[in-house]
Amino acid sequence: MIAHSRPTVSEEDALRVAAVVRSGRLAQGAEVEGFERALAGYLGVAAAAAVSSGSAALELALAALGAGPGGEVVVPTYACDALHHAVTRCGAVPVLADADPETLGPSAKDVARRVTPRTRAVVVVHPFGLAVDLDEFLALGVPVVEDCAQAIGAAYGGRPAGSRGALAVCSFYATKLLTTGEGGAVAGPSGVVERVRDARDYDEREDLRPRFNYKLTDMQAALGRSQLARLDAFIARRRAIAARYRGALAGIAGCRPPRDLGERHVYHRFVVAVDRPLGPLIAGLERRGVAARRPVFRPIHRALGLDGYPEAERLWAQCLSLPCYPSLTDGEADAVVAALAAALAA
Ligand SMILES: Cc1ncc(COP(=O)(O)O)c(C=O)c1O
Repeated sequence: MIAHSRPTVSEEDALRVAAVVRSGRLAQGAEVEGFERALAGYLGVAAAAAVSSGSAALELALAALGAGPGGEVVVPTYACDALHHAVTRCGAVPVLADADPETLGPSAKDVARRVTPRTRAVVVVHPFGLAVDLDEFLALGVPVVEDCAQAIGAAYGGRPAGSRGALAVCSFYATKLLTTGEGGAVAGPSGVVERVRDARDYDEREDLRPRFNYKLTDMQAALGRSQLARLDAFIARRRAIAARYRGALAGIAGCRPPRDLGERHVYHRFVVAVDRPLGPLIAGLERRGVAARRPVFRPIHRALGLDGYPEAERLWAQCLSLPCYPSLTDGEADAVVAALAAALAA
């Protein structure tokens, strides 16, 4: 079976983690600080605070921007549930926005319709590895949180995803672009990142402001530093796989691959649009040895029983994510194409 996703780890990664284990200094310390500096440099921002997950990063970023009881946060419905959970954990109300069928991220026009005087932030997901144009979102006059969980290394107009919003959040889950097993980060201007640092650790503080243990360990950060040093190579391999897929899929009826968008896309997911019901197609691929997935398990509005998100509905019905990760071989990519062609023709 060709896996849908797989971490890319090396012997060097293992040695770097082992060195921390042997040092006996396991919890948040010098490795975390080094990882934060390297990450901020990579994203082109002043500072970064490493935390225990992308979910924690979202929650702490929103809280640092003032989201709380009485406030609202606009999030895309065609995205993972972590966005909804992060808003409710702050005590704010999630307001869902429809998708943009071009980018698969949030529609700037629909977000604009849903902004009110109570809006504390808008979360713009760079979907599946594509850096979206932030201009229309920034023009709303509301703090923009760039969700870079799937898009570290992507750039729009030469500017890295994560470098223009009020804050950026990252996830380092096992199958993300770079991994610490579980982990995340909030990145941006020093002042607001400092608020995140304060909130991720409760120990030895005079006051009792809301805090929790959201820290990353030095063992995880050592892996993160090692991975970040290879991120550009990972992205180059993802782009090469995407180019191979694009060429091979061009001749296959009933399947539309994404356009080549150059530096804008790092292909955390390679998402195609298909004209067939996805359930049977995914089962057909599985019978042929390929694990493919919907890139979004289910739009958030569906879990809430809400209507009025026609573009997200369309994307949910049509979008299919094919295996795309640095350790996928050319032979495996060709086998994925052959399986998709056969499943579509069946
Ligand atoms: C766009 C997006 N944001 C946030 C998250 C949450 O990250 P984590 O799983 O590290 O909590 C994910 C997870 O996949 C994600 O895809």
